[in-house]
Amino acid sequence: MKEIRVSAPATVANVVCGFDCLGFALSAPNDEMLVRLIDEKTVRIINCDEYTLPTEPKKNVAGAALLSMLRAIDEDFGFEVEITKHIKPGSGIGSSSASAAGAVVAANHLLNQRFTKRELVEFAMDGEVVASGARHADNVAPCVFGGFTLVRSNHPLDIVELEFPPLFVTVVHPQIEVKTSDAREILKQKIALKDAVAQWSNVAALVAGLQKGDYQLIARSLEDRIIEPIRSILIPKFDEIKRESKAAGALGGGISGSGPSIFMLSETETTARAVENAMRDVYAATEIEFNIYVSPINASGVTIADN
Ligand code: HSE
Repeated sequence: MKEIRVSAPATVANVVCGFDCLGFALSAPNDEMLVRLIDEKTVRIINCDEYTLPTEPKKNVAGAALLSMLRAIDEDFGFEVEITKHIKPGSGIGSSSASAAGAVVAANHLLNQRFTKRELVEFAMDGEVVASGARHADNVAPCVFGGFTLVRSNHPLDIVELEFPPLFVTVVHPQIEVKTSDAREILKQKIALKDAVAQWSNVAALVAGLQKGDYQLIARSLEDRIIEPIRSILIPKFDEIKRESKAAGALGGGISGSGPSIFMLSETETTARAVENAMRDVYAATEIEFNIYVSPINASGVTIADN
């Protein structure tokens, strides 16, 4: 096989209480990528969308991830990648991770599955760092593995795949850009012990709730004492979106990744649609433009598209 087309999903990182460790994949939106083998040991990027992302491979997240993979193999060939992004950069739903993860999963198919999923996450993290300035796997892990993942450690990389019950996600993306690097810079480097205790109790309870399919425990655990109070100030109408979504039946939710997108989890699609309407009403009363996505959690991660 000389080329392959893949679909790389958006992801939600942090999942409220799990800053830099929890994440899950969405079923929509997805980036489309075509990766082909070329005779030169290099990476070429072709952008097929309106986002004018860098084409210099080491400055492009897909390019940097593939360069990392090429360094790990002793071969004379390289990769050319055509990228059509549908996940807007800076949206908070793992746009850079989709590019990085999609590229390495596709390339690995062309290499007859030479690398494990864990190794692919390592390569993708080398891409992610180009965009966010930090080497974290909470978006790339669910993008590669699918489903809900917990990154117990970034170095050495230790990824735990979590069980989860049926869940529907409503994500609203107000059309403002929040750079992950900026959203990380404003965070406090030290936190109070009582807040740390509340946070790790919530993470543990959320994981237990997911494993047991206990929706009420999931709802109670979706609480963030540390990151949300600081970052939510960057997101217009954050408190109102959260309040109205819960009134519409959402289990809970919060900032998706570093924002500005806000996600809510619901037990059924009907509730997720009611949450969509509640979110729409909040932003429709403002000048803010927005997109909304409703989808189940995506258990597959990056998938091979029709080739
Ligand atoms: N965990 C990261 C953050 C996700 O919140 O900064 C964004 O890439």
